[in-house]
Amino acid sequence: MAAPTTVTTPDAPAPATSPAEAGARTPNGRGDSAGSAIRLVRHGRLPLLLLLKVGRIQTLFDANCFWARQRPRWALVRMLLGSCCVVSAWRDGRLVGFGRATSDGVFRAVLWDVVIAAEHQGQGLGRRIVRALMANPAVADAERIYLMTTNSSGFYARLGFEENHSQQLMMRCRRGRVSGDDWRLGHDTPVD
Ligand SMILES: CC(C)(COP(=O)(O)OP(=O)(O)OC[C@H]1O[C@@H](n2cnc3c(N)ncnc32)[C@H](O)[C@@H]1OP(=O)(O)O)[C@@H](O)C(=O)NCCC(=O)NCCS
Repeated sequence: MAAPTTVTTPDAPAPATSPAEAGARTPNGRGDSAGSAIRLVRHGRLPLLLLLKVGRIQTLFDANCFWARQRPRWALVRMLLGSCCVVSAWRDGRLVGFGRATSDGVFRAVLWDVVIAAEHQGQGLGRRIVRALMANPAVADAERIYLMTTNSSGFYARLGFEENHSQQLMMRCRRGRVSGDDWRLGHDTPVD
């Protein structure tokens, strides 16, 4: 079990990697101009801190992203356990940023659910979270990193992602909302 890794602490801010990012921090290393610092945590395969505080993820998602509102807690737990890496950002015990990735470790990785609390947007936090996700070997070693976005393509373009016009996004949606049947909870069930 890998323990959570603090990427950035108030006393040891990560080095700024661009003038914009440097400008997002105050001289004392804080992520914003008032209040305490924002701490980034890189979680292991078993993200215990987040599993214990899954309600915080629900609160962040409900308030800041249209695609992930009112996800049941059990589904968020499953989502965390099904992600190869998760990064969270905390300020004064409050979850203010989140991002996760899935990957086969060599060919394909996908970034999901990068979300910053509204009052902390535009301060470089989203960039820090994406960079922390992409520093994970399971993502960094992948031949291709994909993501889907509705209105944040400019944000990802600044991080080196390009629109792809040679492929089509295809999807199939399950009818109805996520429910907690035996299959999703991992119980044994006869197939036929
Ligand atoms: C999109 C989001 C993750 C960006 O995080 P953020 O912390 O606000 O962004 P940052 O401050 O790190 O911005 C980094 C750069 O991207 C730019 N940027 C941020 N959001 C952008 C957007 N939606 N469109 C275009 N550019 C954007 C910033 O201006 C900044 O540019 P710079 O390098 O020239 O300074 C955040 O606004 C958010 O959570 N939005 C709501 C949820 C969402 O839509 N998530 C994206 C899921 S695909």
